[in-house]
Amino acid sequence: MTAKRAIITGVGRCLPDYILTNKELENYVETDDEWIRTRTGISERRILKDPKKGTSYLGEKAALEALEDADVQASEIDAIIVATVTPDYLFPATAALIQKRIGAKKAFGFDLSAACSGFLYALSTGGNMIESGRANKVLVIGADKMSSIVDFTDRTTCILFGDAGGAVVLEAGDEGGIIDYVHHTEGDEDCMLYQPAGGSLNPASEETVKNKMHFIRQDGKSVFKKATEGMADVSLEIMERNNLSADDVAWLVPHQANLRIIDATARRMGLDKEKVMINISHYGNTTAATIPLCLYDWKDKLNKGDNLVLSAFGGGLTWGAIYLKWTK
Ligand code: COA
Repeated sequence: MTAKRAIITGVGRCLPDYILTNKELENYVETDDEWIRTRTGISERRILKDPKKGTSYLGEKAALEALEDADVQASEIDAIIVATVTPDYLFPATAALIQKRIGAKKAFGFDLSAACSGFLYALSTGGNMIESGRANKVLVIGADKMSSIVDFTDRTTCILFGDAGGAVVLEAGDEGGIIDYVHHTEGDEDCMLYQPAGGSLNPASEETVKNKMHFIRQDGKSVFKKATEGMADVSLEIMERNNLSADDVAWLVPHQANLRIIDATARRMGLDKEKVMINISHYGNTTAATIPLCLYDWKDKLNKGDNLVLSAFGGGLTWGAIYLKWTK
């Protein structure tokens, strides 16, 4: 008997309607469209304006579309993993809320916190469940309402992030799918990229709100340096482990944090630009959603047997890569 493979059979996404342009940001902070585009590659991002909707809304819509694409009923799903750093609540888990709303009655679900690497950690976790034979169908969701933790008076962060959800259905197959993954973590004791309050160390108080401690804080330069090294290193690591040359790789599916980080990764891998999925211009950094958003935007260009390298770097610090063979 051959071991089961975890293959992607459906992809979905949810993009909020509201488009926040660089031009509009010029009204809130001292910045300009030219600076943002040249330093980051971002022109606009989506914002979920409805205060009654949280990350579970983005994840639910993406999940429903992925299920339809896979032609799978919610009732067939065994597990739901939601990668997010902006859960609706600290508990219950966003995955539990989505499980109920989509009617995935037999599924268990949990949230996974690995910031911008979250989708890759979740995809490999779901893949392991399938390869072990414990699950046949797993929903893997990456969703973040970043606008809920962005300080729109801080020009160094508010230009970067957007809101979105992405999802894939993983099923057991005979060949292809997830071939290998490499993940790394290095505890960010220096607080290069974090949200200081809202957890057990600094629970919400008048003080934390006054000091804007519920928003993202980032040492942009240090994160940039770490991300550039980390994403390139881990992408090369997975290529070398699997004897993949640049010619063997059909697509790089990179986390979309900064166009310059993506370019540096592609250069180190020896890949032509035509082989790199880039949509940061329209969505900005949507944290756990960037990689499924790329898969969605490129799904009509993907061919059976294509070798994909998915690669990400994020808060934690976390970074990783997945080598998968497209089967759809
Ligand atoms: N508009 C205009 N000027 C800005 C600005 C903005 N939005 N944000 C910062 N600046 C200014 C700075 O104050 C600085 O001015 P100074 O030289 O007078 O001090 C100047 O621009 C250069 O700032 P610097 O921080 O060196 O810019 P940078 O080229 O490093 O770009 C980031 C800043 C945030 C875009 C970049 O560091 C980055 O992308 N970091 C990684 C972020 C990331 O990926 N985070 C998520 C991890 S997954």
